[in-house]
Amino acid sequence: MAQITAIVLAAGQGTRMKSARAKVLFELCGRSMVSHVLEATFAAGVSNAVVVVGHQADSVRAALGAYEGRVRTALQAEQKGTGHAVVCALDELPADSEIALVLCGDTPLLRGEDLAKLIAGLSAHPEAQLSMLTCHVEDPTGYGRIVRNAEGAITAIVEHRDADEAVRAIREINPAMYAVRVPFLKAALSALKPNNAQGEYYFTDVVAIAAKERGVVGVTSSDPTSLGGINDRVQLEVAERELYQRIADRFRREGVSVRGSARIDASVRIEPEAVIEDAVVLRGLTTVGAGAMIDVGSVLTNVSVAAGAKLKPYTVATQSTIGERAEIGPFSHLRPDSVIGEMAHVGNFVETKKTTLHKGAKANHLAYLGDGEIGEGANVGAGTIFCNYDGFKKHKTDIGKGAFIGSDSQLVAPIRIGDNAYVATGTTVTRDVPDGALAISRVKQENKEGYAERLKARLKSRT
Ligand code: UD1
Ligand code: CA
Repeated sequence: MAQITAIVLAAGQGTRMKSARAKVLFELCGRSMVSHVLEATFAAGVSNAVVVVGHQADSVRAALGAYEGRVRTALQAEQKGTGHAVVCALDELPADSEIALVLCGDTPLLRGEDLAKLIAGLSAHPEAQLSMLTCHVEDPTGYGRIVRNAEGAITAIVEHRDADEAVRAIREINPAMYAVRVPFLKAALSALKPNNAQGEYYFTDVVAIAAKERGVVGVTSSDPTSLGGINDRVQLEVAERELYQRIADRFRREGVSVRGSARIDASVRIEPEAVIEDAVVLRGLTTVGAGAMIDVGSVLTNVSVAAGAKLKPYTVATQSTIGERAEIGPFSHLRPDSVIGEMAHVGNFVETKKTTLHKGAKANHLAYLGDGEIGEGANVGAGTIFCNYDGFKKHKTDIGKGAFIGSDSQLVAPIRIGDNAYVATGTTVTRDVPDGALAISRVKQENKEGYAERLKARLKSRT
């Protein structure tokens, strides 16, 4: 294959987003618009890109840091049009680039297969200098129109603003995705003039120049939705729904049950036979193992769920690890650095943070487990609190294997409960408990016979 470099135009402001943030940094399915475009170019086998930045240049550059080595940026300090933007990219093109793919950073639905067709179109026509995608839309308002001659060959693109009635009636539009031979590109760009309604250097004029030389290859796509640009937050929302649908369908074909309105980010990985229930949200680098069950309403951000684990409804977890066949929820909250071991259980209204539950350990009801370590097979009763914070520093609670923590206990950290130790219900533990010992701290109970009636009579007389 020829040496291909993508040039992605992303210097514009995106006024209609009504935001201080650069348009191309708005995210869909956990990934910025411009990253979706780059992923499509990589999927088409193009592993080199130059992104033209301008508005919010520093934040766009920073967002592209993850692609270091594959993606460079070029600055367009002043936005003088799409043709001028491509000129700004030329210095960053690798010397051996034979073909440039010229794309926009605001078309996140673009598919690798569309770009592969675009490249194949140019390769199939050695005499042509440029190939471009085109599509037919119901409402072409705002787009550049494709003008063809009597033989059906593309002769020019006319911008909506510059078009007369006859041209405005054309419904074949320019999605602004092109493949161009680099020597021609350089020559054509130097011939551009800003003779148009906006006084800008239009990249579309390069198409007219190519048409005069040895022709333009039009590659017509039957799927206009994947070529559309995003200009406002309404289009962003519609596009994100489409992307969520694509991701869910891809997993379904791979053997994952994705139900109802589950929303799965582009970077999530799921193994076959997992079940992702309705209204689940899987974000970031979350992974779900084979046969795991994520029940209704759970929200997982950067969580690794091992095979066969079961997350009951409304589990909320962030940056945590859940082991094989563990059971979590309903209504559990796993905060960062929670590690739930194999077959461990975390039940309703249990909050964990920076805490490890080893294999088979259980905390089934109403507990705060922060900065702790809970040994294999230990049982933490309802209402247990790890008192980990003294207002200045966090301290660790360490529970040995097989230990039993009775309900409503407070463990004042730093503290160690020994292996197989037993903390009696309602104990405030302030000193380490040796292995196998019983810890009990309670005020002695007193029963006063017949006192209930007397107490009530006294209280009533005071009202
Ligand atoms: C452009 C095309 C139009 C096409 C439409 C598809 C031109 C002249 N027109 O119009 O035919 O139908 O896209 O969406 O090319 N940009 C820069 N620097 C600039 C100007 C733009 O980087 O100086 C970037 C923008 O950030 C954006 C892209 O280029 O990502 C397209 O620019 P935009 O102003 O949206 O072009 P349109 O007027 O929509
Ligand atoms: Ca646009």
